[in-house]
Amino acid sequence: MTPAELELRRYAVQGLVAEAAHLALDYFGKQESLGVTMKGAQDWLTVADGAVEGFLRQRLAVLFPSDTVIGEEGGGATSDTVWIIDPIDGTSNFARGDRNWCISIGFLLNRVPTIGIVAAPALDELYVAQRGKGATLNGQPIAVSGAEDLKRACVELGWSTRIPFERYLTVLQRGYAAGCSVKRSGSGTLGLCHVANGRTDAYAELHINAWDVAAGIVIASEAGASINDFFAGDGISKGNPILCSTPALIPQLREIAGIS
Ligand code: IPD
Ligand code: CA
Repeated sequence: MTPAELELRRYAVQGLVAEAAHLALDYFGKQESLGVTMKGAQDWLTVADGAVEGFLRQRLAVLFPSDTVIGEEGGGATSDTVWIIDPIDGTSNFARGDRNWCISIGFLLNRVPTIGIVAAPALDELYVAQRGKGATLNGQPIAVSGAEDLKRACVELGWSTRIPFERYLTVLQRGYAAGCSVKRSGSGTLGLCHVANGRTDAYAELHINAWDVAAGIVIASEAGASINDFFAGDGISKGNPILCSTPALIPQLREIAGIS
């Protein structure tokens, strides 16, 4: 793929995400008609998830017919040029009227995370990154915190019912014992974006899916974060652990989270 073809993808998808953001915000403003259902324990679904993913799939198919698409709601197949979509990440927040949710689109070229676009429309925030070209928040360059001391670090630890809670509690306990402030905000994607702009110092989760992190990995790594090789093995289809941190804290956090 030529550099021009990549740039075209980044610009075109920024436009799509802006439209998708309006669609999602319309739903967010009408909480009574979100049609909330549960896919499982603590696994939320609203009509907005399907509508936003459907919109993005339809437009991507027209714009880039030879690319494939994988989405949280509709699945899909990987290829050398694949878009990985989370229509609403932080659905449990979205369904409760909490603004910490986003739309996430990542693009992998030959399995390498290459473009990441994340819109958090209720917060009026747009993160954009392309491999080798840096990361921005609302057009301004962003960078990780540079923190070096766990005793003043803020680490987000993601949680889901996919992992036995004992394993989560072990990591949580080790994190507190090392002096970290540990938090959880309900959007893995924004968790990575917040490492990218220094609002937190690290994000870890023992299992997360590709759509939760495909865009955020590009954004955080372009902002200077160190990240494990999330797409190793079956990462695209089955997910993997993620550890994303300002670089100096990585060795200690690997020990704490048990993620290499
Ligand atoms: C979830 C969120 C959550 C993370 C979970 C994800 P959803 O995605 O990103 O923060 O801890 O692993 O499944 O359900 O809000 O799209
Ligand atoms: Ca998600």
